[in-house]
Parts: sequence; C-alpha cells; structure tokens
Amino acid sequence: MPTITIDGVKCEFAAGQTILQVANANGLKIPQYCYHEGLSVVASCRICLSEVWAPNPKSGQLEPFMGGKLVPTCQQTCSDGMVVYSDSPKGVANQKAVMEYLLINHPLDCPVCDQAGECFLQDYSYEYGRGVSRFEEQKVKQPKKDLGPHVYLYSDRCIMCTRCVRFTREVSGTSELMVQGRGNKEEIDVFPGVAIDNELSANVIDLCPVGALLDKDFLFAQRVWFLRSTPSIDGITASGDNILIEHNEGKIFRFKPRANPAVNKWWITDEVRYGWKHIHSEDRLRSPVHRRFGTLVETDYTRAYEDALDGLRKAVADGKRVALAVSPMLACEEAYLLAMLARTIDPEAVLAVGPVPVKGQDKVFPVGAKADDPRAFRTYAEKAPNARGVRRVLEGIAGQGNVPDFEGFLRRLGKGSGASDVAAVVLTGNYPSDWATDDLVSALGGKFVVLIDTLSGRLIDEADVVLPGATWAEKAGTFENARHQLQAFEQAIPVIELAKTEGQIALDLMAELEGKADVVSGEAPMVVMATQRSLLPGSTQTAPPRAAAYNAANIRARMAAERPALAVFATGVSLPAVEARQEADMKVVDL
Ligand code: SF4
Ligand code: FES
Repeated sequence: MPTITIDGVKCEFAAGQTILQVANANGLKIPQYCYHEGLSVVASCRICLSEVWAPNPKSGQLEPFMGGKLVPTCQQTCSDGMVVYSDSPKGVANQKAVMEYLLINHPLDCPVCDQAGECFLQDYSYEYGRGVSRFEEQKVKQPKKDLGPHVYLYSDRCIMCTRCVRFTREVSGTSELMVQGRGNKEEIDVFPGVAIDNELSANVIDLCPVGALLDKDFLFAQRVWFLRSTPSIDGITASGDNILIEHNEGKIFRFKPRANPAVNKWWITDEVRYGWKHIHSEDRLRSPVHRRFGTLVETDYTRAYEDALDGLRKAVADGKRVALAVSPMLACEEAYLLAMLARTIDPEAVLAVGPVPVKGQDKVFPVGAKADDPRAFRTYAEKAPNARGVRRVLEGIAGQGNVPDFEGFLRRLGKGSGASDVAAVVLTGNYPSDWATDDLVSALGGKFVVLIDTLSGRLIDEADVVLPGATWAEKAGTFENARHQLQAFEQAIPVIELAKTEGQIALDLMAELEGKADVVSGEAPMVVMATQRSLLPGSTQTAPPRAAAYNAANIRARMAAERPALAVFATGVSLPAVEARQEADMKVVDL
C-alpha cells in the first residue's frame, strides 16, 4: 500500500484520500476549521496549510511540492512517498498568522459564550496562536440574529468557515443560509423572510467550530465541561440514529449526533435532537400504584408485585389466557424478559407488539435526492425505535406467525366480537405522550390489567396495578431500526425516583414468582442497569431491584443461549465505541 509521512509518522493511504483525511484517520493533529468529512472541500480557512515534499518522478529525490508553497492539506490528495510537515517553521508561522487574523474582530467573550469549552477558536488559540494581540484598532461589531426556531447567530464570533452554508446546500438541500457582504463586513445570513427551518436545521450548530451558531434550547443552560456524554440511539423514531446524551447530575441538557456512516452519517433530525423532553416531564409515573376498593392508591413494590401476580395467576387458574403487549419503545432485552415472564405464568400467553405510531412519511435529504442514494440522509415516519426488534424477540419465543400486531391483539381481547378468552393483560407503554385509544380502553373492560408505563394518561384508570417504567435514557439495551440494524445503547442517567426499567420489573416479578425475591435492607443504592461492559457503582437509583440487577449484556447472552432463533444477539449487535473521557485540567472545589 502506498505511504505518506506526516510529521515524522509513516501512514498508509488509499487512492483519493487527502493528506488531512490520512492525518485524522491516524490521530495526527493538523488544525482545521472549514474541513468537515460530510461536506465539500473549500480550503478557505487556510489553517491546515503545511509544507509538503514529494519524490521527483524521474530522479526519485524528494523536492519541495508546488514550488515550496504551503499546501492546503484538506484539499491535496496524497501521493506515494510524500513527506508533510505541519510543524515546520513555515507551517507554524502560517498557523499563527491565521489565528491572529481570525481573532482581529472576534469579541473574545468566552466567559459568556455557550461554546466555551468546546470551541476550536479557544483550543487553537492555545495550541497554535500567538498569545498576544497586536491589534489596537476598533473591532467590527456585528449583530446577533434569530435565524430560525432553533438557531441564534452571533455574527461577530463567526470565522467564515462556511460549513453552515454548505450544510444547507449539500445535506438538507434547503439553502437557507448564505454569505453576504465582503471583507471584514462579510457575514452569514438568511434570505429576507426565510428562516432556517428545515428538519435538520440544528446540525449547523454542531458544525459551527466556534460560538457563532447557538442552540436556543441549550442557551446558557449549562457550561459544557460539567456535561457527561453517553453513547445512545434515537429512542423516539425508527431511524436508529446514533446520538450522545449529554447530562449532568441526572438531568439531560442536550442530544448531539454521534457519527456513524452506516446509519446517520454525522447528522440527526431536530425531532430526535429535541425529542427527549418527556423524560423529565412532571407527568412521569414515579411509584407503584394498585387498586383498593375501586380507587388507585400508591403502594410499595412488594404489594404491587403480589397484586400483579395474583391477578395474572387467577386468570390462568380460571382457565383463561394472559396477554402481553410489548411496546416498540422497549429494548429487545426487556421484550425477552417480559415475554418469558408471561409464558412462565401462562405457557400459552398471547405475545403481541404494541402500537407502532406513524406520522407523516419517510423523507430523504437533500431535498430531491433519490431514495436509494447511499449519500442521502433518511428520516422515518415510524415513531418507535424498536418495532422490528420486539417482533424479532417475541417471534423467537412464540414462533413466526404467532405474534399479532396491535390490531390483532385488540381483536384477541374481544374488539369487534366482544368474546375473548383473555382475562388478564400486561400492557407496556413508554411512549412520549398519552397513547390510549377508545378501542383499547373498551377492549380492556372487565379484564385484570397490569400497566407498566412512564407517563400518566387515560390508561391508568383502566389498570389494577400500575408499575412506573423507565425511558431509554435511563437504561441500556438494544434497538433494531428500520434498516434492521441491531444497535446497543448505554444508560445515561439514573432512573427517576421509584421507577424501574421494564427489564428490572420483569426480573423482579420472575423472582417473586419463583419465591426468590429479596431486598437486602440497608444495602447501598443498587444500580438499575449495567453498562454494556460493567456495573455502574454509585448510581442514585432509589428503588433497589428485588432480583439480580438487569444487565443488558448478560440478557443478550442469555437470549442467544436459550433461543437459537435469537443467536444474533450474541454477535450481531453493534456496541457503541468506548469514548475516551477527557479529564479537565482544572479542579472544581466546593466552597
Ligand atoms: S456561523 Fe459558524 S459554521 Fe457558519 S461560517 Fe461562521 S463559523 Fe462557520
Ligand atoms: S481546513 Fe484546510 S483550508 Fe480550512
């Protein structure tokens, strides 16, 4: 394979790769502003310029490339034997000159800038800048602008890299942004009366290497160095988009895209980015509830579990069936545990997939791109992350063709005919809004109902026992997206108050059923969930499990071992890469 040497490190490259791409792929640091893997190359910021030498094709001797001029490494493709110096005196002098130029009109308002802590202007000033300014004149002041529903522009922080403009032209295809003006009056703007309001609009905020484009939803909400990032998967649509959940002390502050060329590339939709508000909703169910003399009253898990199991076992003792609807919002591992629980209580229990919400239609970006274009970004009308995964798991237990969809489930409960052999129902929800329908409510009439859900809604009134579940950000598991990709995600925040993951509830109930449930009093707060690799000590989970703690990785191994049809869960699930945690070089002290 041909090779190139960058700052003394020999690297292999593929035909067509640029010097900067090879440097990035090999972890070598060359500063870059305007370059982004997902956008066209414009080579306008000039900070990546480096000194390049290449072998003379006739003599084989190394000679200065391009007559010794500095070369934009983001644009220059590699050739065999090239030698690149980004840290030569000429290269370093250029970096210092570019940084000085970019900072001439920059307001240096880092203490009040949301980007502080993740700003390339800050980082590069430190690594490549001069440390002093020779500029004594008045800085050009530019306005702050409201560009659209999610985006503010602080013009005077902009370094004119044009990443944002190229995004709206090349990725969303909506072209709302433009460069207007010349010289030091140049600025990013929208066309008059046309806001940046496309379904991918907030990606320009991530693309902006400085604090010029800011997220209205995150504005002044949190300093970024307090945030922890947890790799996760879109939990509200069928896209399977890879995300980072950024949180602090159990509270989510923002979602960011996590690059995955095979799924979402570098982007997420605004729907996914802002679709987490229900996680901290006032309407979250926070403790178990059971029915006493016709009224729902709060209870503890011991009584709630006893009531739930009594009702389910009574149905079987009466010669009737138990039916379970597993929500497509739940993880595959939870579907497995719940289904195994139902089949332990009633070997002929009905296993069905819960309702799969659909809104609008699938779309492809850039606007006008062909649906099968591999470079296109897709959004999905299906508003559930795991309908395919839940079906795969339930069919792995009940057999193909034996898992009705939600319409079939309602018919089994007696919708239409009124006749049903089902006397007890376990319903799981976890939708971001109330999901009760008139058909469901009337089909539940006269049956014993255990509801495991996250938000308060109409179904509570139909339930005999209500157990508070956990959103996907509060657990680990696996989702199968619309493209049948099985992807694991980690637990980002602890489960709120007395709620538990649905997987933990299933494990607890199974242990009660087998007479093994036990809560060791005085035990340190237990972890509701393990990460993919290890238990998380010190979680603030307040409702300890009554059985072994739910651990997604262990459950996947168990699924594969117990059911040959589910062998894919042993090897076919892609795990999120472990992100190296950067420790701050400052100490935070409590005063
Ligand atoms: S607003 Fe940000 S992304 Fe857009 S040109 Fe300016 S610096 Fe680049
Ligand atoms: S990154 Fe190469 S010129 Fe901007």
